[in-house]
Amino acid sequence: MLSGLHLTTDIVRRIERIFESEIEKGLARGSGDPHVSSLQMENTYIPELPNGTEQGQYLALDLGGTNFRVLLLELEHAPDGGRLQDIVVREEVKHYHIPDEMRLGCGRELFDYLAYCLHDFVTDKKVEGALTEFNHNHDGDRHQSPLPLGFTFSFPMEHHSLDVGILVSWTKSFKCSNTVGHDVVKMLREAIERHGDMDVEVEAILNDTTGTLVQGANLDPRTAIGCILGTGSNACYIEKASKVKHWEGDRHGEKEVIIDIEWGAFGDNGVIDFMKTEFDREVDNKSLLVNSFTFEKYISGKYLGEINRTILEKLCREGLLFGGKASEKLLKHDSFSAHFVSLIEGDTIQGITTETEKILKDLGLKYTSDDIKIVQHVCELTSNRAALLVSICLATLLRRMNRPDTTIAVDGSLYKFHPRLKTLMNKYIHLLAPGKKFRLMLAEDGSGKGAALAAAIAKRLRRRLMN
Ligand code: GLC
Repeated sequence: MLSGLHLTTDIVRRIERIFESEIEKGLARGSGDPHVSSLQMENTYIPELPNGTEQGQYLALDLGGTNFRVLLLELEHAPDGGRLQDIVVREEVKHYHIPDEMRLGCGRELFDYLAYCLHDFVTDKKVEGALTEFNHNHDGDRHQSPLPLGFTFSFPMEHHSLDVGILVSWTKSFKCSNTVGHDVVKMLREAIERHGDMDVEVEAILNDTTGTLVQGANLDPRTAIGCILGTGSNACYIEKASKVKHWEGDRHGEKEVIIDIEWGAFGDNGVIDFMKTEFDREVDNKSLLVNSFTFEKYISGKYLGEINRTILEKLCREGLLFGGKASEKLLKHDSFSAHFVSLIEGDTIQGITTETEKILKDLGLKYTSDDIKIVQHVCELTSNRAALLVSICLATLLRRMNRPDTTIAVDGSLYKFHPRLKTLMNKYIHLLAPGKKFRLMLAEDGSGKGAALAAAIAKRLRRRLMN
């Protein structure tokens, strides 16, 4: 019943070949051409990586996961082990809950809420430089420039410059009307304007993977891939500008560009349907955005628990688990979280059953020692498949980039809390990209710090253009 979750060598090689060909097709798309690949391969327009001279105060907005965060970061460059590194000398952060009716409602209201939170933050934290009143004198003349802001918006976007991001589709748990096809920077600027009283300039829009790469490069200059394994999953990497057909910038000026792969959508055109199990189909059918971002549904934190729940429910229905008696909780959609998977995997590693039993009890299940083993086995299988799928993609990038030494900056709750993922990924990437030197590096809070760094880079660039 579970054999479909095992990826044989043949299947792995097939996925690898298809991923590579989808990358090529995605890059070969001219701007305005229809999407022939399930991989968007979007150019991010981040013109350069941090060089250790970024400093000053920046606001950062981070929207993508379950919470919305507003941050104030003060950067200073400081020598670290012989090189300059941008360090955060002051950090203020506030989390805001986004209620369902806002995530699933009308776009204008969502952006008005973001502006409201931004205003609440700058007044609460006394960020005076972000207020109109503070930056102008009594006659209304400006004596201080607006506070720069970096906006991490972790959804697929089409970029035409560093401060233009057209929303392609919602993913994860967002589905707002009147937003797809719109420039989210414009929507944010208009909402800030409508709110009034604020003097901030949205300098850059980026995705969380880009933020992770930028923050990673700040920590280790060998960083060339940014990867997220959290609520969603995706990666970006450094590509030669000459290979990107839809690149609208100066091909001669910029030799390399950061490409946002949007691998969560890998196979949405059916090219890897051969690996789909009945459990994946069920998870997709019950998801908010059916038939979309199916690859993400195999691997990311938002779905990993639900895959396990679906399997356990089926085994139970077949009379193979819990004496054939499922509890009400087990039958409830999303009642089994990725966090459970991490805890159960922790037990398996140690050869114990403490957390597993606690979870089964909390789910109201009556279990035997065989049931425990089966539950642990299921979590092991799905975790292993997720690690292997991510590794196939990362190894393909390493082979493609062919650098002497690459650091892969990773962030996201699943990566941080799953006790086995990192070890499995190291093992599989080594196997799939033999001879390629790499390391996985946790680049925490790329979506916050990366946004501030991107805003700093954008500002530096604008000054350079003006001089
Ligand atoms: C989803 C988004 C992508 C983001 C990822 C991780 O896949 O489409 O833009 O990077 O989640 O948050």
